[in-house]
Amino acid sequence: MFKIYYKLFCAESLRFPTLLFLLLFLLPARADEGMWLPMLIQKKIPQMQELGFRLTAEDIYSVNRACLKDAIVHFGGGCTGEVISAEGLLITNHHCGYGQIQAHSSVEHDYLKDGFWARTKDEELPNKGLTVTFLRRMEDVTEQVLEGVTDQMSEVERQGIIEANIKKISEETLGDMDPKFHSVRITPAYYGNQYFLYLNEIFRDIRLVGAPPSSIGKFGGDTDNWMWPRHTGDFSLFRIYANVDNQPAEYSDDNVPYRPRYHFTISAKGLKPGDFTMVYGYPGRTRQYVLSPAVDYIANRSNPQKIRLRSLRLDVMNREQAKDPAVRIQYSSKNAGVSNAWKKWQGESRGILNARTIGKKEAFEKRFQQWAEASGHQEYITLIPRLKELYSQLEPYLFASEMYTEAVMAVELLRFANTLESTVERSGTARAAEVAERFFKDYYKPIDQEIFELLFTEFYRIMEPFGDLLPSDPAIGEPLPAEASRFAVLAEYLYSNSALADRQKTMDLLAKDPASVLTLIRQDPAFRLVSPFVVKNRDKIQPRIRDINRELNLLYRTWMQAIMEFDSDRIFYPDANSTLRVTYGTVQGYSPADAVMYLPVSTIEGIMQKDDPHIFDYDIPQSLRDIYAARDFGRWETDGTVPVCFIATNHTSGGNSGSPVLNADGHLLGLNFDRVWEGTMSDIEFDPSVCRNISVDIRYVLFIIDKIGNANYLLDELDISE
Ligand code: ARG
Ligand code: ASP
Repeated sequence: MFKIYYKLFCAESLRFPTLLFLLLFLLPARADEGMWLPMLIQKKIPQMQELGFRLTAEDIYSVNRACLKDAIVHFGGGCTGEVISAEGLLITNHHCGYGQIQAHSSVEHDYLKDGFWARTKDEELPNKGLTVTFLRRMEDVTEQVLEGVTDQMSEVERQGIIEANIKKISEETLGDMDPKFHSVRITPAYYGNQYFLYLNEIFRDIRLVGAPPSSIGKFGGDTDNWMWPRHTGDFSLFRIYANVDNQPAEYSDDNVPYRPRYHFTISAKGLKPGDFTMVYGYPGRTRQYVLSPAVDYIANRSNPQKIRLRSLRLDVMNREQAKDPAVRIQYSSKNAGVSNAWKKWQGESRGILNARTIGKKEAFEKRFQQWAEASGHQEYITLIPRLKELYSQLEPYLFASEMYTEAVMAVELLRFANTLESTVERSGTARAAEVAERFFKDYYKPIDQEIFELLFTEFYRIMEPFGDLLPSDPAIGEPLPAEASRFAVLAEYLYSNSALADRQKTMDLLAKDPASVLTLIRQDPAFRLVSPFVVKNRDKIQPRIRDINRELNLLYRTWMQAIMEFDSDRIFYPDANSTLRVTYGTVQGYSPADAVMYLPVSTIEGIMQKDDPHIFDYDIPQSLRDIYAARDFGRWETDGTVPVCFIATNHTSGGNSGSPVLNADGHLLGLNFDRVWEGTMSDIEFDPSVCRNISVDIRYVLFIIDKIGNANYLLDELDISE
């Protein structure tokens, strides 16, 4: 191995950065695995400092003074965002603000296509329902949560006590704070071996400030998604508003820009291979400690079927969206959502195969078993067999549940019929009318009808071995012909006879005497079709899943203790659960395949190489072409070009999108937005040789705001360190 590098080193054509890059490859891959609790980061500080970090644990998390955590928000519950000015300016990904940008878009004002830049604060656009939350403090409450729990009690008793304790602690913590603007969450870590409390502050007046055109913010689209090299300007800007006392409030004209406790300084100094980076945000869900059969299920059974079902939907959407600009806007957000997981599952299954995760886990389980038997610890000896038994019980139910979600409930009309019924029942017809308006704004019947036919055909094929998990009569009163086209016949009937497939008919229905509305919805063919599935799922499938999962979780609690004893050298961190985490690493390329090496930084040159007016995903704005031709990069030029994206070894997950990527001084280098294809299995196994997070370089963001948005007045708000 050394010999090969030696030769490369001596090759005269090698430029310095490449040499440096190779040097880094010679270093052993550092295990930068882990998503750490901010409150407990102290124990990781020495390793972080070894990699170059120059701050302290108090700078990361403190309740006594303003610190990095005070600039970070959970954005809309699914992404991360961060405050970058003293006037509450917030930055997150374009794909995180996508729903909002789309909601403000129409064929006349197509902000998705053309971008949006508020010229003054008056032009900033409010977003109904959008919230951002700040973590104010966290606390280890294990002792209080487990108070009264004894070793002798049954699991049911134990759970009862825990739930009661959690309720009591939450109420006490909340005190007389308004639950609209404050929340308390108590979540288990390590499968209930520990509990943490999070006190959050919720802001509800969040306005859209700016977004680049999708041809920049989503450059590369779903073709480049989950892949490196990447050239996406994946950012959008919002502003948090508060009342005149700087407290969270509902939207109001009288609200003023929020003055945050802390906001990030932006580093325009750039980065190079080997530099320390840290990502601070809200990873959603990881499953690092599950047994081999769980991984086998995900990689080899669940993912392949879900991928197949989503392919069917995507083909229809893509074709219809290409035909009509209005439909393209209507389905853009839906399409992106469907395709994102669809592609991730493909990378994940492949990554699990490549990393030989299942085999490694099996070998680990074997060693564990031997150790347990040697130790004579009865509870440990039976652990794996009991877990495996539960998995085999769980699998058919879990599979059915996933297929219901990916097929039956993926039909918009059916989901809508179900939602409308429960909305009328719970909140009345006025609320239901709002739901209906929102639904029809982005509904295109021909897409849905075709998808219904395809999904049902496939669903019944897949579910054949699980007949008892299907409702006995999925029909709607009409007998179904037996031939292959029976779902085409059903689709035709359903979509021409259901009032709920038509905006006007639905609105008319909802305007009738409220006493009769519920009955009318329940007689509608769409509701009659979906209802037996909903009932079957609710009464037969979900309760079984809940019961088995409860038992699994209990065993996993013991499993965590056991493997911590067995594998005492290993680093353990709690699985992600949408709570705030710190992960750190260094800027580094990787080798995706034999004889291939990727550099860690992409530039505007790559955008120009991909640019193609005939390919939707690669058709950049003419203004960017002109700027490039004139090489008018302004102050954002670095080494004769503009840096665009970079990769590093931070262990991130879904939900980390929009997270700040910080340098050794805690300054903002960029925004996390994705992972590389070969490393998408990192939710299950983090392989340091190929797992990389992808970020957009903040200098590219500033360049786009300045040169494409011509919104340089926004730059005046920022603290840029150059
Ligand atoms: N893969 C990234 C994440 O999981 C980005 C998704 C948005 N981009 C897209 N082309 N759909 O969210
Ligand atoms: N793109 C993801 C997100 O939206 C991040 C990831 O899965 O790496 O959170």
